[in-house]
Amino acid sequence: MMKYSEKVMDHFRNPRNAGDMSNPDGVGKEGNPVCGDMMEIAIKVDDDKITDIKFKTFGCGSAIAVSSMITEMAKGMSLDQALSISKEMVAKELDGLPPNKMHCSNLGSKALKNAIENYKARKAGKEVAAEPLAVE
Ligand code: FES
Repeated sequence: MMKYSEKVMDHFRNPRNAGDMSNPDGVGKEGNPVCGDMMEIAIKVDDDKITDIKFKTFGCGSAIAVSSMITEMAKGMSLDQALSISKEMVAKELDGLPPNKMHCSNLGSKALKNAIENYKARKAGKEVAAEPLAVE
Protein backbone atom coordinates (compact mmCIF):
# COMPACT_ATOMS: atom_id res chain seq x y z
CA MET A 1 0.00 0.00 0.00
CA MET A 2 1.18 3.50 -0.79
CA LYS A 3 2.09 5.71 2.14
CA TYR A 4 1.25 9.39 2.00
CA SER A 5 2.77 11.99 4.30
CA GLU A 6 0.65 13.79 6.89
CA LYS A 7 0.99 16.95 4.84
CA VAL A 8 -0.32 15.29 1.69
CA MET A 9 -3.32 13.99 3.64
CA ASP A 10 -3.92 17.40 5.22
CA HIS A 11 -3.87 19.24 1.88
CA PHE A 12 -5.99 16.52 0.31
CA ARG A 13 -8.62 16.77 3.05
CA ASN A 14 -8.53 20.57 3.38
CA PRO A 15 -7.43 21.96 0.05
CA ARG A 16 -6.36 25.63 0.15
CA ASN A 17 -7.35 28.05 -2.58
CA ALA A 18 -9.67 25.65 -4.39
CA GLY A 19 -12.45 27.01 -6.58
CA ASP A 20 -13.29 29.70 -9.09
CA MET A 21 -11.84 33.16 -9.55
CA SER A 22 -13.73 35.98 -11.20
CA ASN A 23 -11.78 38.07 -13.69
CA PRO A 24 -8.42 36.34 -13.35
CA ASP A 25 -5.37 38.03 -14.88
CA GLY A 26 -4.03 34.70 -16.12
CA VAL A 27 -5.34 31.17 -16.49
CA GLY A 28 -3.30 28.05 -17.18
CA LYS A 29 -4.43 24.54 -17.89
CA GLU A 30 -2.48 21.36 -18.05
CA GLY A 31 -3.45 17.83 -18.85
CA ASN A 32 -1.53 14.87 -17.56
CA PRO A 33 -0.55 12.51 -20.37
CA VAL A 34 0.10 9.73 -17.86
CA CYS A 35 -3.37 9.54 -16.37
CA GLY A 36 -5.50 11.97 -18.42
CA ASP A 37 -6.25 14.17 -15.41
CA MET A 38 -6.58 17.94 -15.74
CA MET A 39 -5.69 21.00 -13.74
CA GLU A 40 -6.48 24.67 -14.05
CA ILE A 41 -4.80 27.49 -12.14
CA ALA A 42 -6.02 31.09 -12.16
CA ILE A 43 -3.97 34.03 -10.88
CA LYS A 44 -4.37 37.67 -10.03
CA VAL A 45 -1.25 39.73 -10.51
CA ASP A 46 -0.34 43.11 -9.12
CA ASP A 47 3.03 44.76 -9.61
CA ASP A 48 4.52 41.47 -10.91
CA LYS A 49 3.42 39.63 -7.77
CA ILE A 50 0.83 36.90 -7.46
CA THR A 51 -1.75 38.40 -5.13
CA ASP A 52 -4.39 35.68 -5.45
CA ILE A 53 -4.49 32.18 -6.84
CA LYS A 54 -7.11 29.46 -7.23
CA PHE A 55 -7.06 25.96 -8.60
CA LYS A 56 -9.51 23.45 -9.98
CA THR A 57 -8.54 19.91 -10.74
CA PHE A 58 -10.05 16.77 -12.09
CA GLY A 59 -7.25 14.79 -10.61
CA CYS A 60 -6.34 12.23 -8.01
CA GLY A 61 -5.75 12.90 -4.32
CA SER A 62 -2.10 13.68 -4.92
CA ALA A 63 -3.03 16.22 -7.60
CA ILE A 64 -5.36 17.92 -5.12
CA ALA A 65 -2.63 18.05 -2.46
CA VAL A 66 -0.09 19.29 -4.99
CA SER A 67 -2.34 22.06 -6.28
CA SER A 68 -3.25 23.14 -2.80
CA MET A 69 0.42 23.29 -1.80
CA ILE A 70 1.59 25.07 -4.94
CA THR A 71 -1.05 27.78 -4.50
CA GLU A 72 0.17 28.38 -0.95
CA MET A 73 3.77 28.53 -2.13
CA ALA A 74 3.07 30.86 -5.05
CA LYS A 75 0.83 33.36 -3.26
CA GLY A 76 2.82 36.53 -2.64
CA MET A 77 5.71 35.45 -4.86
CA SER A 78 6.99 37.45 -7.80
CA LEU A 79 6.24 35.94 -11.20
CA ASP A 80 9.89 34.93 -11.62
CA GLN A 81 9.98 33.20 -8.25
CA ALA A 82 6.75 31.39 -9.04
CA LEU A 83 8.08 30.30 -12.42
CA SER A 84 10.99 28.60 -10.71
CA ILE A 85 8.77 26.33 -8.58
CA SER A 86 9.53 22.81 -9.77
CA LYS A 87 7.60 19.63 -9.22
CA GLU A 88 10.40 18.45 -6.94
CA MET A 89 10.03 21.58 -4.77
CA VAL A 90 6.31 20.98 -4.37
CA ALA A 91 6.83 17.32 -3.54
CA LYS A 92 9.48 18.30 -0.98
CA GLU A 93 7.13 20.81 0.69
CA LEU A 94 4.61 17.99 0.98
CA ASP A 95 7.24 15.82 2.70
CA GLY A 96 7.46 13.65 -0.37
CA LEU A 97 5.21 11.87 -2.83
CA PRO A 98 5.36 8.22 -3.76
CA PRO A 99 7.52 7.83 -6.91
CA ASN A 100 4.60 6.74 -9.05
CA LYS A 101 2.78 9.94 -8.06
CA MET A 102 5.46 12.42 -9.11
CA HIS A 103 3.68 12.95 -12.42
CA CYS A 104 0.78 14.41 -10.43
CA SER A 105 3.17 17.03 -9.06
CA ASN A 106 4.17 17.96 -12.58
CA LEU A 107 0.57 18.88 -13.32
CA GLY A 108 0.60 21.64 -10.69
CA SER A 109 3.87 23.27 -11.65
CA LYS A 110 3.02 23.16 -15.38
CA ALA A 111 -0.45 24.67 -14.86
CA LEU A 112 1.07 27.48 -12.78
CA LYS A 113 3.68 28.17 -15.48
CA ASN A 114 0.94 28.24 -18.11
CA ALA A 115 -1.07 30.70 -16.02
CA ILE A 116 1.94 33.03 -15.79
CA GLU A 117 2.61 32.74 -19.54
CA ASN A 118 -1.05 33.48 -20.17
CA TYR A 119 -0.83 36.58 -17.97
CA LYS A 120 2.30 37.77 -19.80
CA ALA A 121 0.71 37.18 -23.19
CA ARG A 122 -2.39 39.10 -22.17
CA LYS A 123 -0.28 41.93 -20.84
CA ALA A 124 1.62 42.05 -24.10
CA GLY A 125 -1.74 42.63 -25.75
CA LYS A 126 -2.03 39.25 -27.40
CA GLU A 127 -5.46 37.82 -27.83
CA VAL A 128 -5.34 34.53 -25.99
CA ALA A 129 -8.10 32.04 -26.53
CA ALA A 130 -9.15 30.25 -23.37
CA GLU A 131 -9.40 26.92 -25.12
CA PRO A 132 -10.10 23.93 -22.94
CA LEU A 133 -7.16 21.61 -23.16
CA ALA A 134 -7.67 18.46 -25.16
CA VAL A 135 -6.67 15.44 -23.17
CA GLU A 136 -5.67 12.40 -25.12
FE1 FES B 1 -3.68 11.81 -12.42
FE2 FES B 1 -2.48 11.98 -10.12
S1 FES B 1 -3.15 10.17 -11.09
S2 FES B 1 -2.95 13.57 -11.46
